[in-house]
Amino acid sequence: MTTEIMPVHPHSPQHIIVERAAEILRRGGLVAFPTETVYGLGANALDPVAVQRIFTAKGRPSNNPLIVHLASSEAARELCANWPASAQLLAERFWPGPLTLILPKSETIPGLVTGGGPTVALRIPQHPVALALLRAVKLPIAAPSANRSTELTSTKADHVLNSLGGRIDMILDGGPTPGGLESTVIDLSGNVPTLLRPGLISPHDLRLVLPDLQLAAHLHSNAADSNKESKQNSTAVRDEQSSTPLISPGLMSKHYSPRAKLECWSPEGWRRVQELLSEGASVGWLRWGHQTNLRHSRLKVFDMPADSLAYGSCLYAKLHDMDEANVTHIVLDLPPDEEHWLAIRDRLRRASTVWHEPLASV
Ligand code: TXA
Ligand code: MG
Repeated sequence: MTTEIMPVHPHSPQHIIVERAAEILRRGGLVAFPTETVYGLGANALDPVAVQRIFTAKGRPSNNPLIVHLASSEAARELCANWPASAQLLAERFWPGPLTLILPKSETIPGLVTGGGPTVALRIPQHPVALALLRAVKLPIAAPSANRSTELTSTKADHVLNSLGGRIDMILDGGPTPGGLESTVIDLSGNVPTLLRPGLISPHDLRLVLPDLQLAAHLHSNAADSNKESKQNSTAVRDEQSSTPLISPGLMSKHYSPRAKLECWSPEGWRRVQELLSEGASVGWLRWGHQTNLRHSRLKVFDMPADSLAYGSCLYAKLHDMDEANVTHIVLDLPPDEEHWLAIRDRLRRASTVWHEPLASV
């Protein structure tokens, strides 16, 4: 299959281009499009054949459910078996925007979309291209991030093309996605609202709306992993081989990974860089929080932004850049274990093979 790349204006998308993409989706095809978080790979959520194409194109295990994207809260409510007050509050405050809500699913949604489980993930994106496409197509659109399963998430059309070119019908190229990290996911299907995946909306802002919001167990800092390598091997293999719905989907630990070996270090990243260089490795260093200056022909350095939003917005792009530079190792200086770094540290924990930081005091 040839993948058509269609440049589109990110702020005022051209009607004729949006309509072409919508027509592909109506016919059961796959279209990648920008959202305010990352690029999504869309298909008609009501068409199991089209949804199956997403799983095939991504190489995604069929028990990992997809987020359904809609143009309005009313359309979202129709896909849930019930709509609690907490959903109404969050939707009023944060939709359209980078927030995904997990709710009991209605019968309209095919089981393939939800990984066979009883709940559905819903989101109304804010990006003008995504919203225009959803309004034009007038269908719920299932859209995971537009990358092969376990590989780095795409924040530019080029990333999508490198990962999924030849496997999907069209890429709407609306430039780099502004947010750079996947949406915040909150599970509202149980007794207590639970943050499953931190994202661009901080836990602080979420608690202003939902004071009883809890963090899922894996997000507590004491769950930080001092033995990264062994955890990755056991959890990733078990999750991906199982055919039953995942109890906590999205927790597959091998995720978002660059090709190079990613090592997260605090506080001594620069020492590790030196060590790797002396062993003959070629190293990408995502430097943060200090000025130590090293120069070497096999070293590529990038200074990550001090601010967490700016950091999140460029993190995946910098990991992609390091892979394109063919380094064997990426060393990253870890930002601190503080709440506004939660989403970034969550992604890094999954992407890295080494996590080296003093254990948090209990
Ligand atoms: O920002 C985003 O959320 C992007 C854009 C395209 O909207 N999408 C995205 O989709 O990141 P994906 O498939 O890469 O991640 C969706 C996450 C997965 O971790 C999945 O397991 C979880 O949401 N998820 C989906 N449905 C769920 C459900 N019913 N219960 C629990 N988790 C669910
Ligand atoms: Mg993803």
